[in-house]
Amino acid sequence: MEKQNTKEKKKNIYLIGFMGCGKTTVSNYLHKEYNRKQIEMDEEIQKEEGMSISEIFSQKGEAYFRELETKLLRRLGREENFVVSCGGGVPMRETNVKEMKQNGKIVLLLAEPETIYERVKSSHNRPLLEGHMNVEYIAGLMEKRREKYQAAADVCVYTDGREVSEICREILKRTDCENK
Ligand code: S3P
Repeated sequence: MEKQNTKEKKKNIYLIGFMGCGKTTVSNYLHKEYNRKQIEMDEEIQKEEGMSISEIFSQKGEAYFRELETKLLRRLGREENFVVSCGGGVPMRETNVKEMKQNGKIVLLLAEPETIYERVKSSHNRPLLEGHMNVEYIAGLMEKRREKYQAAADVCVYTDGREVSEICREILKRTDCENK
């Protein structure tokens, strides 16, 4: 009788949420403390294109960037045991959400607009905030995205005022990824 492959595929963890919600910090911690392989979508796209996110937006357009995100997610779907730090716009596309759901758990990180502002205010590689770097604009864009973010998420985790270690323990517990 043919031997069956019983090895279970380890789920990916997809971190989603608004720019500055803490995806990179959480991803770094899960990588260091829990041996998860790690990928930052923006970083990978910049490496592959040889351009910054701002340059991709200004020279090739946002639609081109969104296609790159979708293609990268498809490739990541073939991997396992990754923590993927998604760009803030990733959950806005239905096809991206489907792809992530098939291959892992989606974790939405939440933070108040004031906290987000403090974290991103000196950044110049976030073209959607260029020229709108204020709490009101951030709160408005967050509100526009809220429904899709919530619908995509398997788990929502608040980050304001919390230690990254505690946030990561909560994520692993609630995604059923502890010891896996
Ligand atoms: C974007 C978020 C950014 C980056 C791009 C667009 C968005 O990623 O992908 O500037 O649409 O919210 P971070 O969430 O990692 O900042």
